[in-house]
Amino acid sequence: MSLIGRHLIDPNDLTLEETQQIIDLGLKIYKNPADYADVCKGKILGTLFYEPSTRTRLSFESAMLRLGGTILGFSDANTSAVKKGESIADTIRVLDDYADILVMRHPREGAPKLASQYSTVSLINGGDGGHQHPTQTLTDLITIQNYKGKLENLKVAFCGDLLFGRTVHSLLKSLSRYPNMSFILISPPELKIPYHLKDEILHNHNVEIIETNSLETYMPEIDILYMTRIQKERFFNEEEYVKLKDSFILSRDKLENAKKDMLVLHPLPRVNEISYDVDLDPRGKYFEQAKLGVYVRMALISLLLGVIEPC
Ligand code: CP
Repeated sequence: MSLIGRHLIDPNDLTLEETQQIIDLGLKIYKNPADYADVCKGKILGTLFYEPSTRTRLSFESAMLRLGGTILGFSDANTSAVKKGESIADTIRVLDDYADILVMRHPREGAPKLASQYSTVSLINGGDGGHQHPTQTLTDLITIQNYKGKLENLKVAFCGDLLFGRTVHSLLKSLSRYPNMSFILISPPELKIPYHLKDEILHNHNVEIIETNSLETYMPEIDILYMTRIQKERFFNEEEYVKLKDSFILSRDKLENAKKDMLVLHPLPRVNEISYDVDLDPRGKYFEQAKLGVYVRMALISLLLGVIEPC
């Protein structure tokens, strides 16, 4: 099925084949970006960010500009008519006439899904509260494909805030669909993945899940270590955040027992959970990950707008 005009709210809005098409095209663009410099000439990307962002908003904007298109939008809802009480529905009914494709980030779970019901152009979820972040997943998948050469038969550890971590939820959902995957979920007991998500994955896929609060125990077996930030903004009280914020800190010495070809990924921003000395270790690929996010978003925009044929 064509991707043209579709919305992307949840990673499973894309089949595995469609996900692979986006990754393959992203890697092709990464190798020869000049070939795609004007495929979106005359097209406009609208960025509606109701919650702070560096990478998601700016990588989308960079992607559209690198494709020859233009951008408009807001990075702070307080500078828009939202401040005057405008509903999401009305905002979208107007902006889908101003732009050819929209990206929305919102602190409320489900807001981009609601918005997509009013949008006549493709609407992409740029992260909704503690729920889903499908384009971070595309960024993670293209990075794994690029550095491991495959997206199957992998032991992937997720570490940190697995309860509120939307990047974790989306990547787990997506990776569960690949053959022979196993997951190690490392978190404090208070921040384990939501029960409904674990049930959904175990019910629908033949995967192994181990839950632990130890970063060290499984280190020698891990192929991908996906570190995440304990997210202050998702806590209801400061005391609980302070208690949990430094639960896991990956330092270079902790990598001594890890596989030589393990990848350390992180959606960023980081706070304390990865020491700066890990940046010097070739296994730390989180800045390369952020860079590949531009190319996979170039692929996504191009396919949703129908300006490039899938590979
Ligand atoms: N990874 C990610 O979503 O980063 P930003 O919050 O900077 O967009």
